[in-house]
Amino acid sequence: MNIALFGPPGSGKGTQAELLCDRFKLVHLSTGDILRAERRKCTELGKRVGEIMKEGRLVPDEIVGELVQKRVQEAMDEGRGVLFDGYPRNLRQLQRLESLLTVLDTQIDHFVSLDIAPPKVVDRMVSRRTCRSCGRVYNLKWQPPETDGVCDACGGELYQRADDRSEAIEKRLVEYGRQTEPLMQNLTQRGLLQKVCAEEPVEEVFSQIMELIRRNGRRQISVS
Ligand code: AP5
Repeated sequence: MNIALFGPPGSGKGTQAELLCDRFKLVHLSTGDILRAERRKCTELGKRVGEIMKEGRLVPDEIVGELVQKRVQEAMDEGRGVLFDGYPRNLRQLQRLESLLTVLDTQIDHFVSLDIAPPKVVDRMVSRRTCRSCGRVYNLKWQPPETDGVCDACGGELYQRADDRSEAIEKRLVEYGRQTEPLMQNLTQRGLLQKVCAEEPVEEVFSQIMELIRRNGRRQISVS
């Protein structure tokens, strides 16, 4: 089974992805995490994508597409399904992914949209903290660590993402409206997008997703 999660920045894609991957033993393919790892390596590519991300813009499709293709191929070789978190993000990326999955004789079974009002995501992002060592995500308001600034899981240092500052958040929301919403309209027109209310607590959102997976079973999509 392959699942793709959609939703504005801060809607909870990463949080739900962790729970779903744990439940269904899927490979968590987060393009944001892959790009942040690339940035940490300080290669030429890493420096280039780091600048783009800091400004809240999207990294060029070609760069992201190649990184994704490699991870998808690895997951398929291991015989595992994939949870797509943050990819595809525009119509070109959707077409590229669908072509790749067709070649690999597989498909996305569930396209899930996490619906939430913009003011709520801003609130979530400014209070998000991430562990520098293991990547675990916290929220100072709703899921704080036991000790200030320290990861409960590994003792690593918690930091605020550079793109979680208000100026970058604004640009990310504009990019989402400009690039990702047309992709979601396309999926809606094809009857593929399933919506959940992401304003509820984490466990409630997870139950909604589980319910629609149970209800719909596996679904074969057609390439448009
Ligand atoms: P990426 O890392 O994918 O960021 P994003 O899509 O903006 O999403 P976020 O990680 O900000 O939020 P999320 O929805 O995962 O929410 P989370 O679960 O953390 O991308 C970053 C950048 O990389 C992009 O801007 C772009 O530059 C580049 N990039 C990535 N993919 C790309 C692509 N395909 N093409 C081109 N460029 C790409 O939750 C947020 C907070 O809320 C947390 O603190 C969490 O604890 C809390 N929370 C979660 N759920 C709940 C809940 N139900 N109730 C209360 N709090 C909650």
